[in-house]
Amino acid sequence: MSEIRRPDDMVRITTPELADAFIEEQVKLVKEQVGNKKVLLALSGGVDSSVVAALLIKAIGQQLVCVHVNHGLLRKGEPEQVIEVFRNQMKANLIYVDATDRFLDKLAGVTEPETKRKIIGGEFIEVFAEEARKLDGVEFLAQGTIWPDILESEKGIKAHHNAGGLPEDMKFELVEPVKILFKDEVRIVGKQLGLPDNMVFRQPFPGPGLGVRCPGAITRDRLEAVRESDAILREEFAKNGLAGKVWQYFTVVPDFKSTGIKDGKRAFEWSVIIRAVNTQDAMTATVENIPFDLMCHIVDRITHEVPGVNRVLYDFTPKPTGTIEWE
Ligand code: XMP
Repeated sequence: MSEIRRPDDMVRITTPELADAFIEEQVKLVKEQVGNKKVLLALSGGVDSSVVAALLIKAIGQQLVCVHVNHGLLRKGEPEQVIEVFRNQMKANLIYVDATDRFLDKLAGVTEPETKRKIIGGEFIEVFAEEARKLDGVEFLAQGTIWPDILESEKGIKAHHNAGGLPEDMKFELVEPVKILFKDEVRIVGKQLGLPDNMVFRQPFPGPGLGVRCPGAITRDRLEAVRESDAILREEFAKNGLAGKVWQYFTVVPDFKSTGIKDGKRAFEWSVIIRAVNTQDAMTATVENIPFDLMCHIVDRITHEVPGVNRVLYDFTPKPTGTIEWE
């Protein structure tokens, strides 16, 4: 593996031309590193792993094996988009694993947030390792590590999140073609590689996915309410010019019901909470001032289109004291 380098004098990738030059250089380096061997990649559909996938498809084509694990906690349309972009359009070698039941069964009745995170992370590694064991001759593991990950693990802020976790007997050499890039540079490279804008410029989305937006024990009905209300919020933000402006926005469905009225009858149903925040570094955050008319329209859509929901609330809490996510 080549030395990690982000020389102080490295030109920041700010233009399509610089991105093209970076891609050309990395394609050459990856080819030199892996030769005719196979490379495995956990492809979540997030920016970093998607850009690595697109880069490696360009460099080594069918020698790359992508594994997309659907843990059942992805946003509406995400697994479908991964299949469409990578299998259908880029002709990647993609293994799709729908592990929804497996994850939801393990999470049933679990209320403690950190335990939920551990179960989701642990099960993810297990599913991925199972798929890896089915393959012959894989010697390399590709990862979407980026420069801030390396800085943070050096400073001891967080473990190098991508590298850890696989069972001891699974030894791979790492391929990390975007490890010297900052996030904004990764996005420009992704665009040059032909990835769609809604993949490259997407808002941050936590690894445990919608699981942390379904506080307490995850149930399928509340999870569906989170997924559907999130899709409506994203659609309305995109239509009204807020998608590129607001840093992170999503919905939460807490574990309580309230009385309401639907079709003239008493309806004891869930509430959806909307969260929309702006931040530089996610350490502190302010709340977005959503236009009142748009808010009313979103409330109308969610209460009429999402089954089991009769009320919508807006979270006006900055960070601190609230964290961005609810768990
Ligand atoms: P909080 O809730 O701590 O979130 O204010 C700050 C940023 O981190 C994201 N986040 C996570 N990302 N795994 C992730 O990959 C997690 O467990 C996790 N928890 C929070 C959150 O979405 C926000 O962007």
